[in-house]
Amino acid sequence: MYAERVVSGMRPTGALHLGHYHGVLINWLKLQHEYPCLFFVADWHALTTQYDAPEEIQKNTLEMAVDWLAAGLDPNQATLFVQSHVPEHAELHLLLSMMTPLGWLERVPTYKEQQEKLASKDLSTYGFLGYPLLMSADILIYRADRVPVGEDQVPHIEFTREIARRFNHLYGREPGFEEKAKEAVKKLGGKRARLYDELRTRFQQKGDKEAVEQAHALLEEIQHLSVADRERLFGYLEGVSKMILAEPEALLTEASRMPGLDGAKMSKSYGNCIALREASESVTKKIRAMPTDPARIRRTDPGDPQKCPVWQLHQIYSDATCRAWVEAGCQSADIGCIDCKQPVIDSILKEQAPIRERAEYYRNNPTLVKNILSDGCAKARDLARETMRDVREAMGI
Ligand code: TRP
Ligand code: SF4
Repeated sequence: MYAERVVSGMRPTGALHLGHYHGVLINWLKLQHEYPCLFFVADWHALTTQYDAPEEIQKNTLEMAVDWLAAGLDPNQATLFVQSHVPEHAELHLLLSMMTPLGWLERVPTYKEQQEKLASKDLSTYGFLGYPLLMSADILIYRADRVPVGEDQVPHIEFTREIARRFNHLYGREPGFEEKAKEAVKKLGGKRARLYDELRTRFQQKGDKEAVEQAHALLEEIQHLSVADRERLFGYLEGVSKMILAEPEALLTEASRMPGLDGAKMSKSYGNCIALREASESVTKKIRAMPTDPARIRRTDPGDPQKCPVWQLHQIYSDATCRAWVEAGCQSADIGCIDCKQPVIDSILKEQAPIRERAEYYRNNPTLVKNILSDGCAKARDLARETMRDVREAMGI
């Protein structure tokens, strides 16, 4: 079996903050050691909403690459690149657009939602409607099996699966497929051939997914099959003659509960963020200025951590001993809020120290960052070209 491939992208909308770090990047850091990973800056996706400020996107793209490297993404482990540097994404997007029903795009829930959310901007554009399809091209072009995304992106992955299915159904026809598939079944030998036929019937007539899994296991263990025959048997099983584009699965990133400075979810639009590479003085100042339980007007007033946003940060950054110290000290007014905030400040600064150091290094070596991205681009393009060859061949163009 080949290793499952992971693909994900991020729109370059500005400096990353600790919410991105805890919500997305820590997960990517783990994945880069477990799978072959491709991570890209989705600059075209940013353009769907920021078409009036492309120069911002350009600037943010490089900054995002620095943020990723600073966070610890390792270019020797993961392939890092910029979407627009791999024009094959655009070619696949165009070809897919020919067979994508308009209704499918209009029905993607994020379409209306985002239009309403960004009401000040005219988003009744062709490009914005095509946002999910561009994302499908990003994923399908690498035949990715797993796509780490937040919950909000799950409808896009579902949409991508439908596009892959439709593509395979429309263009995955090999001349003489039925006959070739039947020949391949015979080659399995009497007993296995019968079992395969039985499982195939069970799936096709009753939609029994277990039968598909059993048939897959059966095919996996047979050594003497040619690659082409194996493919045919996989396809014949499920009624697709040939799988050209693979259906990906969402690898759901656990919803980040990273609280911002006011206790609400950390988000740029709420202005409650600490940047990934925020200067230490600024971090200290921001935490010191955080609101606390309003009942603690004077130092001697007892408080309740449940009513305090600082307590939420302790959940992320402090161990059990420290948290017990906070709970007891707050309720008895033994500690003041300044004392209570110090361990949070210390932990954030400690978390950021290696990040800041790496960021410094990469910022001083912009050529290095550009080289990392162009190496990544070359690797990504090799894979993308391979898929495009199969796609063009399947469509006969
Ligand atoms: N739409 C994604 C987001 O906003 C970013 C993205 C673009 C993406 N292309 C992708 C994510 C492909 C995963 C795979 O978060
Ligand atoms: Fe919040 Fe800590 Fe002050 Fe209690 S002591 S109100 S938990 S900052």
